[in-house]
Amino acid sequence: PSLKDVFAGDFKLGTALLVNEISNPNGPDAQLLKKHFNSLTAGNELKWDATEPRNGEFNFTRADQIFQFTMNNGIAFRGHTLIWHSQTPDWVFHDANGGLVSKEVLFERMKKHIDTVVGRYKGKIYAWDVVNEVIEPADGKPGGLRSSLWYQIAGEEFIEKAFVYAHEADPAAKLFINDYNTDQPWKRQFLHDLIKRLQNKGVPVDGIGHQMHIGIQSPSVLDIDTTINAFKDLGIEQQITELDMSVYTNDTDKYDAFPLDLQKKQAARYREIFNVFRKHKDEITAVIFWGKDDQNTWLRTFPIVRNNWPLLFDERLQAKYAYWALVPRT
Ligand code: XIL
Repeated sequence: PSLKDVFAGDFKLGTALLVNEISNPNGPDAQLLKKHFNSLTAGNELKWDATEPRNGEFNFTRADQIFQFTMNNGIAFRGHTLIWHSQTPDWVFHDANGGLVSKEVLFERMKKHIDTVVGRYKGKIYAWDVVNEVIEPADGKPGGLRSSLWYQIAGEEFIEKAFVYAHEADPAAKLFINDYNTDQPWKRQFLHDLIKRLQNKGVPVDGIGHQMHIGIQSPSVLDIDTTINAFKDLGIEQQITELDMSVYTNDTDKYDAFPLDLQKKQAARYREIFNVFRKHKDEITAVIFWGKDDQNTWLRTFPIVRNNWPLLFDERLQAKYAYWALVPRT
C-alpha cells in the first residue's frame, strides 16, 4: 500500500530527499518517492549556501531539479529553509573588512535573498520554514533565543523581518517556524510564548514545524501528545517536518546490524506515534520524514559516522517492520 493513501484523510505524508535520489527520474529511488509521498522537502538544495553562495549570485540548478520532479508528478513542494544559523555563508554577516555588518545591511541582504528565493517559486511552494532552530538551551539548561549571528546583529527583530519579507514575496505560502526537541517543557513554553509575541505584533506566522528527530526510547508518546496539545490555543497549523527515529539512546553506541528486537520496538513505537498524529489530524496538516530510507539518512554521519536505521525503508529500499506497522492489514 501507498503511505500517502493510507493517511489521505488525515494529513499530507512526505519526505525530504536529496537531488541525487532523482538523478534517474524513473529509477527505484524515484519510484518509491512517487508511490508513497505527496509532499517533498529539499534536504539541502534550498538552503542559503546552496541558493546564494556569494552575494547576489544565485544558483537554482539543484533546487529546480527537485521542483520539476514535484511538478511532473503532482507532488506538493515544501520549502526548507530561509533563515538558519547553519549552512549559511559567512559573507551574509560580514563586510569587506571582516567586521559584522549593521542591522540595516543584514536586513537588506535578507530581503533580497527571500525575495529572490521565495519569489522564484511563488505559488508553487506551499509552505516555507522561514526560520529554523532559533531557540537554544544554555549549557543544557533552559535557554532562550539562539545566540546566532542573526541574533547578535539584529536581536529578535530578525525573526519578524523574515516572516514579513516571506509574506510579501509569496502571500499564499504558509509560513512556519521550525525547531527540534519541541517536546522539552521549557523549549515548548519558550516557543509558544515567542509565537504569541509574534502574533500580537501582527507577524504572519501560519504554522509551527516540529522537526521530531527522536530516539528509540524518548520522548515518550505522551510527551508528543502533550506537545501538540500545548500549541493548539495559538490557532495555527502544526506539521511534523523532519521525522526520524534513531535506534540509539546516546551519541556513541554503534551496531553492526540492526537487532531484531529493536526493529520490532521501532515499528511499535512508530505505530503509537502515528496514532497520536492521527488523533490530532485537525491540527497536523503534514507529517514528513527526513528521508525515505536508511541509506539516505543524515543519521549515518550525525552525530558520528555509524550505521543507523531510523526510517521506514532499508538500505535496499525494502519495507521494514516500521513500514508494515503503519499500513492497514488486508
Ligand atoms: C541536514 C541534512 O540532512 C544533511 O545532509 C546536511 O549535511 C546537514 O543538514 N535539522 C534541519 C535539517 O533542519 O536542515 C538538517 O538537515 C537536519 C537537522
